[in-house]
Amino acid sequence: MEKKEDGISMGNKKYNACIHTGFQKHDDYMTPKSAWENIQQFIPKDKVIWEAFYGDGKSGDYLKELGFKVIHQEVDFFTSDLGEIIVSNPPFSLDLIKPIMYRLKELDKPFILILPSQKINSQYMRNTFKDKLQIIIPNGRINFNKLVGDKIVECKNKCAFDCFYYCYKMDLPNDITWL
Ligand SMILES: C[S@@+](CC[C@H](N)C(=O)[O-])C[C@H]1O[C@@H](n2cnc3c(N)ncnc32)[C@H](O)[C@@H]1O
Repeated sequence: MEKKEDGISMGNKKYNACIHTGFQKHDDYMTPKSAWENIQQFIPKDKVIWEAFYGDGKSGDYLKELGFKVIHQEVDFFTSDLGEIIVSNPPFSLDLIKPIMYRLKELDKPFILILPSQKINSQYMRNTFKDKLQIIIPNGRINFNKLVGDKIVECKNKCAFDCFYYCYKMDLPNDITWL
């Protein structure tokens, strides 16, 4: 995999490392505070968290409100390397999540990522973190808030898919944790 200044190339395909996802409209779903409250006991308070995908910036605020040290800046994930642990909800679309998982492998930092549960079956997950992940299963669906322009619109309908918290090097007591 060849790294470029503005993104990552895999084979002939170049992945756009866009921060503003105006054209990635399915990726502008923001994490509710409850999603971080529910797993706060698994995140160490003495480490600096990098909330690596900015969105509207609220997710980092929520983590700070819970007492964590957080870096949450509008920087390009692919060309940055911040904090000690990555805790985030990244874009889910295939053209971004695939290079994101390869970049995470390269960074080799502990992480907790919110991702749809079916991503566990993907080839890129197998190629990057097979046998290395621990999973936290939320009690019910996470209902994300949609960012429309610069306004948050609470989703009227419940989220159509289930998510897990995918954990790497977090040393959780169990490989599968049911909340
Ligand atoms: C699913 S949203 C979640 C935002 C936030 N982490 C949260 O939990 O509320 C994913 C966000 O990733 C951001 N993003 C997309 N490509 C990125 C990149 N290359 N580097 C950093 N952020 C990016 C976009 O702003 C998008 O809104």
